[in-house]
Amino acid sequence: MDISIDLAGIKLNNPVIAAAGTFGNSDEYGQLVNISLLGAVTTKGLSIEPWKGNPYPRMVETVGGLINSVGLQNKGVKDFIADDLPLLRALDAKVIVNIVGKTIEEYAQVASVLDNEVGVDAVEVNISCPNIKKGGSSFGTDPKIAAQVVAAVKKKTKKVVIAKLTPNVTDVSEVAKQVELAGADAISLINTVKAMSVDADTRQSKLATLYGGLSGPAVKPIALRMVHEVSQTVKVPIIGMGGISNTKDALEFIIAGAQAVAVGTATFNNPQTMINIINDIKDYLKDNDLTLKKLSGSLKSN
Ligand SMILES: Cc1cc2nc3c(=O)[nH]c(=O)nc-3n(C[C@H](O)[C@H](O)[C@H](O)COP(=O)(O)O)c2cc1C
Repeated sequence: MDISIDLAGIKLNNPVIAAAGTFGNSDEYGQLVNISLLGAVTTKGLSIEPWKGNPYPRMVETVGGLINSVGLQNKGVKDFIADDLPLLRALDAKVIVNIVGKTIEEYAQVASVLDNEVGVDAVEVNISCPNIKKGGSSFGTDPKIAAQVVAAVKKKTKKVVIAKLTPNVTDVSEVAKQVELAGADAISLINTVKAMSVDADTRQSKLATLYGGLSGPAVKPIALRMVHEVSQTVKVPIIGMGGISNTKDALEFIIAGAQAVAVGTATFNNPQTMINIINDIKDYLKDNDLTLKKLSGSLKSN
């Protein structure tokens, strides 16, 4: 059964993508997952120079989720091109590079460095990380600045540009509308939800940074609602994510309006999650005499 999709001009063998920051930068999961079977992989956020990330502790489990404040620790885009991209090319994986910056100019620089690299299919502009002081969601919460970042990136690249939105806003549709107008070829959402965990014994936050970003099943209902809202607002394709742990979850996002889905936190529990979803989607479509195209956005009114 054919479950390939055209995502803003990129042909993916299936609609299931590894979410940024949860699947390494290249073949770290190679022993556990047949990476070539995935629709695409997304790298960890990459900046123009290496970033150290936040102090520890920066990860805490909560009911139904995980709060992290990794703070976009990364080796920098040039090392990624030298060390990781050749491995991804050898795997014949479709590659989305998640990019970050502390200024609009830095985002544009990363996009520019990647522009001529074979094997990079798209850049995903992370204007939504809640765990850094400059850049990240401070860009993504303001529709005008979000649009400026996307426009600056578009100017520097011929690659497909995906804008990754934050849920930490009142009106996600407005941000989606503005980034589409600025030239985003696709939209992905949601990044993590700003959150906190307190240790009653020490009376301290369980994270060194005080707050972090919540991911996993706990955020799924919020993510679904936002994917639906955005699908009612924009024409560009949507990659839906946030708490997807099984096939049913993935189907719900597609019915709500996504063309593709990404899986993050669930991979930590079971690295086979994405492969299982890919196989089971085929069965579901066959059993229900549906295609992905028909399923996408097929939510019925009550
Ligand atoms: C440990 C960790 C690191 C992450 N790093 C990034 C990142 O570098 N860039 C980004 O855009 N999103 C990052 N995310 C957000 C995920 O890509 C995803 O949007 C979010 O976790 C919701 O999906 P999930 O519930 O399936 O994990 C990270 C999430 C986690 C848990």
